[in-house]
Amino acid sequence: MQWEASTHATGGNYNRNTGECAICHTSQGYRGLLAGTYDPAATGAVISNPNPPNCYTCHSIHESYTPADLALTFSGAVALNNTTESFDFGKSSQCASCHQGRTLTNFAQINGPDVTITNTRYHVHYGSQANIISGKGLFNIGEGLSNSLHTTMITDQCISCHMTGGTPGQSGGHTFKMRNLSNGLNTAGCVSCHTDAAALTADITALQTQVADLMVELKAKLDAKGISVPGSDNSVAGTYPANVAGAFINYKAVLYDGSHGVHNPTYTVKLLQNSIAVLE
Ligand code: HEC
Ligand code: HEC
Ligand code: HEC
Ligand code: HEC
Ligand code: HEC
Repeated sequence: MQWEASTHATGGNYNRNTGECAICHTSQGYRGLLAGTYDPAATGAVISNPNPPNCYTCHSIHESYTPADLALTFSGAVALNNTTESFDFGKSSQCASCHQGRTLTNFAQINGPDVTITNTRYHVHYGSQANIISGKGLFNIGEGLSNSLHTTMITDQCISCHMTGGTPGQSGGHTFKMRNLSNGLNTAGCVSCHTDAAALTADITALQTQVADLMVELKAKLDAKGISVPGSDNSVAGTYPANVAGAFINYKAVLYDGSHGVHNPTYTVKLLQNSIAVLE
């Protein structure tokens, strides 16, 4: 019932069932990559009758018919794209294996050569959460970037907040959602550390407001460079200085991360400030 309410079940994008897309958007593509039976780089690679992420994607269901069948299908450090670094998300490495950036072939290098953008989708894709949380695989420009204690203290990462507590069928558990239908935030996973509920609410509001303001400021600077236009988050084809293209990568990564700073407060704020500074 919880899974049925999740975006994994309802999101619908499992028709992205070819090539590399299928390894994150279809259950069979994900398991096939792990088993070595699906090669996303093969010509004509396709998953027929694709399923969205479901029980069989994440659990070893119906293999031994013992409790071992609940084992997660992926664990250990996740090799992140666009960097040689990896990061261990504990029991959530499985989540991070999909919720991370895709390889961007013309990824900007700090102070590097100009970058030519040919389409409207110059970004590391929509699931940048693993990159924001680990502080790896993005355009890490400038001084003073460091991860929040969320990165080090929350050893099992995603599931500690997204699967803990919640409103039955609306948030928490296998809905993986942080907000219930009346838009209340599920803070069950926060309170072991943030023991003062009123202070937590104030902290969230302050952080998310700061991040929203920085995003507006950064977007205006990016628009002024012509890499985007007001009212749209798409990239504009053209050739740009590397640091402009890199700042755009960071803008999109924070936008699609979806936590408005909560995943990694200190890193997110500094990354945006440094991205703004490089466009002065
Ligand atoms: C097989 C790849 C895969 C795995 C593993 C995975 N996800 Fe997802 N997740 C997706 C995709 C793809 C979507 C978007 C579905 C769509 O839009 O059709 C998604 C959507 C979500 C959403 C909703 C986002 C939104 O914009 O509404 C949340 C929250 C989420 N996942 C959390 C998790 C957590 C937590 C885990 C680990 C327990 C996890 N995911 C594991 C691929 C995965
Ligand atoms: C590394 C894993 C991964 C790969 C590879 C991948 N995606 Fe995704 N994609 C995701 C995740 C995770 C989400 C959901 C992120 C969220 O909602 O926070 C997503 C979201 C999307 C969305 C929904 C965007 C929206 O606005 O809601 C589309 C469309 C999409 N992907 C298309 C594609 C296509 C096309 C490909 C192949 C060219 C592809 N994806 C490859 C992980 C991946
Ligand atoms: C996106 C990945 C994902 C999907 C999809 C998923 N699970 Fe899970 N499931 C997890 C994770 C992560 C845990 C927590 C593991 C832990 O804490 O050790 C879990 C825990 C469980 C547990 C153990 C609960 C407990 O208290 O011990 C059961 C049972 C379970 N899942 C069944 C299912 C079933 C049935 C489905 C399909 C309807 C499903 N899961 C879909 C990731 C997933
Ligand atoms: C510290 C707790 C915490 C951890 C750890 C965490 N999240 Fe989140 N996440 C949140 C909160 C809080 C929000 C929602 C912020 C809001 O709605 O204001 C969120 C938002 C999201 C969203 C956007 C949801 C939407 O509906 O648009 C996705 C997707 C997501 N997280 C995935 C992940 C993944 C994947 C991981 C692990 C790699 C992870 N999160 C780890 C707290 C956490
Ligand atoms: C394992 C402990 C732990 C958990 C769980 C945790 N936090 Fe935190 N959080 C911290 C610590 C410690 C800090 C302050 C230090 C830092 O950010 O480096 C912090 C900082 C923050 C900040 C920034 C506050 C500021 O002063 O800038 C916000 C907002 C926040 N957390 C929200 C959340 C939310 C929402 C959740 C649950 C969804 C959560 N945290 C879960 C330990 C935790």
